[in-house]
Amino acid sequence: MDQPFQIRTGDEAHLLEQARALLGGQRDLIANAANLSALLFYGLQQINWVGFYFLKGAELVVGPFQGKPACVTIPVGQGVCGTAAKSCQVQRVADVHAFDGHIACDIDSRSEMVVPLLSSDRVLGVLDLDSPVPDRFRARDEELLVAIADLFVRSSDWPSTGA
Ligand code: SME
Repeated sequence: MDQPFQIRTGDEAHLLEQARALLGGQRDLIANAANLSALLFYGLQQINWVGFYFLKGAELVVGPFQGKPACVTIPVGQGVCGTAAKSCQVQRVADVHAFDGHIACDIDSRSEMVVPLLSSDRVLGVLDLDSPVPDRFRARDEELLVAIADLFVRSSDWPSTGA
């Protein structure tokens, strides 16, 4: 990336295209996670936290993100993130207070979506997005974020024993 990157805020239809441009030619895991979290934080509306947790042993450990400081570790199977990692399924939570076991990192968060990072059905971590707006995430957001998570997994070099 030689030129300043222009983020088209509110132009969600172009976020996948922008993510492809941002990750093009760069395979460093942390660099890609850091830039992607910034792209999503500024490119999506009504988001107060977006970032990555990487699987290390039996727990998720926070990676690059945008937003307030967050819980460092989350056991697999716990919280929204740990549930997504354990089940390998996207978790789209309309009301975080109604999710049994939700881990509150930012008291402003009202809804949340967590996308597992999958490589051949092996979970590498999760992409987590929080919103201060109840029921913020729609099916089209899920479709976009699954595509971006897949792009991230394929575009980055992963350590053989986990991140
Ligand atoms: N709410 C998440 C914890 C991570 S923060 O939202 C950044 C959970 O329940 O797993």
